Amino acid sequence: MLIHFHVNGKACAVDAAPDEKLLDTLREKLQITSVKRGCENGDCGACTVLLDGRPVASCIFLTVKARNHSIQTIEAFGEPGHLHPLQEKFRAHGAFQCGFCAPGVTLSAISLLNQNPTPTEEEVRRAISGNLCRCSGYVQIVEAIMDYVEERRAAREEL
Ligand code: FES
Ligand code: FES
Repeated sequence: MLIHFHVNGKACAVDAAPDEKLLDTLREKLQITSVKRGCENGDCGACTVLLDGRPVASCIFLTVKARNHSIQTIEAFGEPGHLHPLQEKFRAHGAFQCGFCAPGVTLSAISLLNQNPTPTEEEVRRAISGNLCRCSGYVQIVEAIMDYVEERRAAREEL
C-alpha cells in the first residue's frame, strides 16, 4: 500500500507491505543507511529515528504507522562539513569510537534537548539509556552532552 510521510522535511511516498518495518523502508527504499541495523529486536537503539520529534526504534515500528507523520534521521540535523553543535561537542570530547551507535544516541539526545534544554546528567543518562554503546562506556558521551547544555545555559544568561 502507498504510504505518505515526510522524511527530513521532504514529502515521500513508498509502497510498503503491511508488515514492513520502518528500518527496512528507510534503508532499502530511501537509501538512508545512517539508520543502523543492530539487534532488530527493539533493544539496542541503533535504528533510532525521531517520529514527530520523539525517538522510536524503527526496527520494530511498522511503516504503515508512520503514515502522515514526520520522520527525522541524523541527516536532518547535521552532515559532514555542517555538523550540529552537539555533534561538534561529541567530536571535541572523542565521544564515539566505532560510531555505530552515534546516530541513535545523537537523535535521542536532540529529542531530549528539544523538550528540555537544561536537563540534569541523570535526565541525559535516562534519555540515552535505550541506545547501547559497546565501545565507549558513555563517559565522554554524557560529558559532551552536558558541555553542550552548559554552553547553551551560559549563552542564555548572557542575553
Ligand atoms: S536495531 Fe532496532 S533496537 Fe536494535
Ligand atoms: S562507539 Fe561503538 S557502539 Fe558506540
